[in-house]
Amino acid sequence: MISLLTTFNSNHFIHSIVVIYLRDNHQSILYIYLQNSACIHQIHHLASSVLLLTYLSLSIAFGWNSILSIKMRAKVLIRFLPLIVATLFVVTSAGNFYQDFEITWGDGRAKILENGQSLSLSLDKASGSGFRSKYEYLFAKIDMQLKLVPGNSAGTVTTYYLSSLGPTHDEIDFEFLGNLSGDPYTLHTNVFTQGKGNREQQFHLWFDPTKDFHTYSILWNPQSIIFSVDGSPIREFKNLETKGVNFPKNQPMRIYSSLWDAENWATRGGLVKTDWSQAPFTATYRNFNAQVCVWTSSGSSCSSNKSPSSSSTQSWLSESLDSNGIAKVHWAQKNYMIYNYCTDTKRFPQGPPFECLA
Ligand SMILES: *[C@@H]1O[C@H](CO)[C@@H](O)[C@H](O)[C@H]1NC(C)=O
Repeated sequence: MISLLTTFNSNHFIHSIVVIYLRDNHQSILYIYLQNSACIHQIHHLASSVLLLTYLSLSIAFGWNSILSIKMRAKVLIRFLPLIVATLFVVTSAGNFYQDFEITWGDGRAKILENGQSLSLSLDKASGSGFRSKYEYLFAKIDMQLKLVPGNSAGTVTTYYLSSLGPTHDEIDFEFLGNLSGDPYTLHTNVFTQGKGNREQQFHLWFDPTKDFHTYSILWNPQSIIFSVDGSPIREFKNLETKGVNFPKNQPMRIYSSLWDAENWATRGGLVKTDWSQAPFTATYRNFNAQVCVWTSSGSSCSSNKSPSSSSTQSWLSESLDSNGIAKVHWAQKNYMIYNYCTDTKRFPQGPPFECLA
């Protein structure tokens, strides 16, 4: 039996403990394998599989020679296969919408187009639609180009976010709240840790997001979460665990996206309703680009759909904002921010949450 017992994170090193428990007629052996994550050490996942195999073979050849029969050794190898396969399939995870995503709802309203080069979501009175990533990630840098619902999009919400599951889930949100023709979309952002959100920041954009495709990015690594628009950072949520603020770093997340109706709150707080005579409403996605640590049964492995030989492949894992980035965030917040939970004294009369002060 092979089981992934636990994973833990210390000092930015991710370890998976895999326990192999063998039971023969008269003896049982408990073998613990400590796998340093490829993610942090930048060992390519393929290499780590090979290492694992070699290590195992050596152990069997020398260490367990007197204990294990040939049959048992073969069993060990066979039982390790799922692990190795799980690690290998990361290689093919980058590419187009067919490879990276699956449509989850909407009864045909979500469509992968142009051989997987783009995807469209639509919404009508009967239903919206949505998709999610096939894989789970533990840290990611994702870029997606979106062209939002044009014209009168009041009442509609287009979402694009990372989320784990369960009552104590983590979540990193982009939501685009539609508006009447000519009135600005609202870009809504939020960060949930351990099931708790309440960290909303909202922006207007410096362009019309329905005319052309624009790039919306989330960088999520152990130090920071950075939201960017067309490469310009608009918000950073730093890891302040040392000051007692939770940070998402133990639960793998998936990408989710949807187009749905939220006329009760989306536009001017629900005052402007959806005009169904304009339906169907359509938003389009293209050029998904990701540098990710894919989470599998064997732990976390990092890959990139940029050139694998690029030496800067994994620099995103330690990226945080430099002074130039901080200046850009200040620019966006000064000119385009329309709501900031940090300055909402009605909501936090006893003072803003700690991360706002740091
Ligand atoms: C819609 O337009 C109004 C008026 O310009 C603006 O106050 C609001 O923030 C815009 N966005 C939404 C989602 O209501």
